Amino acid sequence: MKELKIFAPATIANVSCGFDILGLCLDTIGDEMVIRKSNNKGVKIAKIDGQDVPLEAEKNVAGVAILALLQQLNADVGFEIEIYKKIKPGSGIGSSAASSAGAVFAVNKLLGDPFSTLELVGLAMQGEALASGTAHADNVAPALYGGCTMVTSYDPLHVVKIPAPEALYASVLHPQIEVKTADSRSVLKEYVPLKSLVTQMGNFGGLISGLYTQDYNLISRSLHDEIIEPYRSILIPAFDKVKERCLQEGALGSGISGSGPSIFALSEGEETAKKVAKGMAEVYKETQIDFDVHRSKINPIGVKILDIIE
Ligand code: HSE
Repeated sequence: MKELKIFAPATIANVSCGFDILGLCLDTIGDEMVIRKSNNKGVKIAKIDGQDVPLEAEKNVAGVAILALLQQLNADVGFEIEIYKKIKPGSGIGSSAASSAGAVFAVNKLLGDPFSTLELVGLAMQGEALASGTAHADNVAPALYGGCTMVTSYDPLHVVKIPAPEALYASVLHPQIEVKTADSRSVLKEYVPLKSLVTQMGNFGGLISGLYTQDYNLISRSLHDEIIEPYRSILIPAFDKVKERCLQEGALGSGISGSGPSIFALSEGEETAKKVAKGMAEVYKETQIDFDVHRSKINPIGVKILDIIE
């Protein structure tokens, strides 16, 4: 195998009550990347299309993640990559995670799978550290495992994959403003009141049980965030209105996607997800802010191979 073309999916991190722990993989939103073996050692980013991100490997999240992988392997090999970026950086749907997860996934395949998926998560987290200053795994884990993932421990790293219920759909509103993850982490409080922690733990447990048992009622009751959303939502214009409209249209719940500014809603069934997406767009048309709306089934496998050149 000389070259791979892959789809690197967008993801929803936190999923309301699972800050830095939970993530969901999307199916219809993501970047494309071409990764090929090269005779020159190291990493060369040959092309970036669609967004203004650094071409220098040491400053690019995909480059940094591959360099971390090559360093662990101590391998005398090189790679050239082309990135076709559709996910805008700072959108809250895992733009940096798609690039770093896609990069390590493809390089690992081209090298004959020396690393496990969990190890790839650890390597892709190096890209997240470069992008936001924090090596969180709740975007790279669902991008690499697919479905819904739970980071049960950071040290040592441990991830549990939870299969997403068949009829679970996400609607995502992406306002065209940039909110840097580092900035939206800086508004958070270091300490959490015990009462909020107890509520959040109840919701977290409820959401995990609901996902395992496909209990949409329980999923709906549990999609609340007492700890992060109150501080971050003020950075997102019309957040409350959008959320309220999603619930009116029948969504199971709605919240901030990752660190924002995107707002997500989960629904049972595609028809409801369509109505929710339409409602999101109607609310945002009243603001002066450009936006995109996406709708997606949960992607059960994560990064996908689109083409192989032998
Ligand atoms: N868990 C991270 C955060 C995700 O909320 O800061 C960033 O996409």
